[in-house]
Amino acid sequence: MKGFKELPSTSDYIKEHVNELDNFDSVYTDTQTKGRGRTGHTWESEPGKNAAFSILIKDKDIVAKYNLISIVTGIAVAAYLENVGIDNVQLKWPNDVLVNGKKICGILLEGSIPNYLIVGIGINVNQTKFEGFEATSLKNIIEIKLQPSLVAVDVCNLVLDYINQLGNDLGSFIDDYSNWDYLLNKEISFTYKGESLKGQASGINPDGSLRIKYNNEIINVTSDEVSLVRTIK
Ligand code: BTN
Repeated sequence: MKGFKELPSTSDYIKEHVNELDNFDSVYTDTQTKGRGRTGHTWESEPGKNAAFSILIKDKDIVAKYNLISIVTGIAVAAYLENVGIDNVQLKWPNDVLVNGKKICGILLEGSIPNYLIVGIGINVNQTKFEGFEATSLKNIIEIKLQPSLVAVDVCNLVLDYINQLGNDLGSFIDDYSNWDYLLNKEISFTYKGESLKGQASGINPDGSLRIKYNNEIINVTSDEVSLVRTIK
């Protein structure tokens, strides 16, 4: 893993150096000055406190399964958190990782299909206060200060391990997902083809798409097609 004291964004670094980097190379920093989140949002993180890293995937067979990569990455992060003794880990489709309903990790998938994919992962490690949205960190939960770069190395290895298994045993990943599925059977609101709709989340499909019960039918949506999946309280 290539490490930097500070970068605008680890995903941007990979994008700018994509021709010089190899399949599965990864880039780390604990201070991003222009961290990016999904749907054009910024990814805010206090300098030096959290883990930010990105992994480059150039293997064409894996790039083709990009809808599943975010699912599998989320499962790997969830497995890491459980390994360090954290309970109540959940995955909010397509790729937020929550603990006690609060976000601890965000995953951003970008790339140029079918050539490469960049998996960007931000994990809240030692930041304890979060403004504006419901978030938490490893420190808030296990009360131990971990070194963000070491968390990143462990998570990165697990993500690569899971991604490498993708070809072999897809079924078990999807089965595993239901154990962590935050949205499962919840009433949700979502935006689909420009319309705001309400339905019920009904699990995910083997290709990583979300099943939604809508007007007594099941629709299957990918993360490109649907946005703002929110639970209705
Ligand atoms: C989200 O939940 O909106 C996704 C957040 C992804 C943040 C990570 S941190 C490493 C990588 N570099 C970025 O600029 N963003 C991703």
